[in-house]
Amino acid sequence: MTHVLHGPHFPVGGPVPAEDLVGREGYMRETAARLLDGEHLLIAGPRRIGKTSVILEVLRRLRRRGALTAYVDCLGATDVRGLGERLAASLLASLEGRDGGLEDARGIAAGQRAKGRIRFEHLELVLPVVKAGPAGRSFEGALDLPRALAARTGKRVVVALDEFQAAGRAGPRVFDVMRSRFQAQRGVAFAFLGSEEGVLEELFGHKGRALYRFAVAHDMAEAGGHRFGIDPADWLAYLKRKFAQKRMAIEESEVDRILDATGGHPQDTMQVCAALYHFMRDGSLRAVTADLVGVAFEVALRELERPFAMHWTDLGEQKWLQPVAKRIAAGDALYAARAEGDVPRAEVLRAVTALQARGLVTRISRGRYEFLEPMFAEHVRRLDSPAGIVRP
Ligand SMILES: Nc1ncnc2c1ncn2[C@@H]1O[C@H](COP(=O)(O)OP(=O)(O)OP(=O)(O)O)[C@@H](O)[C@H]1O
Ligand SMILES: [Mg+2]
Repeated sequence: MTHVLHGPHFPVGGPVPAEDLVGREGYMRETAARLLDGEHLLIAGPRRIGKTSVILEVLRRLRRRGALTAYVDCLGATDVRGLGERLAASLLASLEGRDGGLEDARGIAAGQRAKGRIRFEHLELVLPVVKAGPAGRSFEGALDLPRALAARTGKRVVVALDEFQAAGRAGPRVFDVMRSRFQAQRGVAFAFLGSEEGVLEELFGHKGRALYRFAVAHDMAEAGGHRFGIDPADWLAYLKRKFAQKRMAIEESEVDRILDATGGHPQDTMQVCAALYHFMRDGSLRAVTADLVGVAFEVALRELERPFAMHWTDLGEQKWLQPVAKRIAAGDALYAARAEGDVPRAEVLRAVTALQARGLVTRISRGRYEFLEPMFAEHVRRLDSPAGIVRP
């Protein structure tokens, strides 16, 4: 008997399966083709717009086309050995078609009796990574693996390094070592991903920095000229289909209402839809109305309170960011003299630049800015008027 596990109807939080990945088909196709061509790509973009979901699906497709792939979340690695081992483990999983190969190799290298589970040629390949010795050596061994694999198998190897900016915390000169090891890797393509756009742009875009011009930026948020790169028509088709699956109906006017409220931000939109669906299911309601969208928005905003509060705290680490962000959220003039203390003009400019670099605000016209995420702006506006926050 087969057992099919269904995920949530509108998944929020982590990477989503392909069928819930709205409006990224063109982008994914192009990404896959370019990586298959051996191009190195930089995919930097605002938080929660689907970078990880997209690359995981692209890697899946590339494997189906015969490529070997690796996916490494650099946030999880605390030192270079750990970072290298993650890379090796992921490559090995793609090669062997199963997880756990690296643990087997490690056991054998430590003198335990071979369980015979890892193929000899694979063991040989990863021995430099798992053998005890200087961590730096192990790391470099791992960085050489993609090339060695491509040479040995004749297959294209594609390596995705997610939250790549965090790799810098694994040790000194990590990026320099990577550059020198990645430079002449024939048959290998790298995708670098991350949400700290400013940091990544500097790493790849500034002369003298370790990875200057190593990868080509492949912008996901602007693709096709749509906000966050997703065509509203794709949202409409997706939402109609998803609600219909549950025998619920949604009209185009309500989809527009949702997208207006969320600005089309992928995660915020999904969060509102999830709230809407749960509310309708619990009340046995069949048709989405404007009122229901309003209720769902409030619920979603409350669910997003925690991540927003964390963002807000992060902004507090740099002087003036919070007061300037508040003005932008409120739509106030940036330089207006206000009773609560003036922000010096030069500081306003600096703060706006920093907020832009963080992917938080965007310029709409001369001297006018707005939040990329309307729901975050709404959260910020309500900070000063607790009465405006709707409590359950
Ligand atoms: N194209 C999309 N269609 C539907 N939902 C999406 C899409 N992209 C992102 N999401 C929503 O955003 C959530 C986060 O997606 P994902 O983790 O892939 O984004 P990310 O950009 O990698 O985020 P982070 O900045 O946290 O790394 C998903 O759980 C989903 O709810
Ligand atoms: Mg991600």
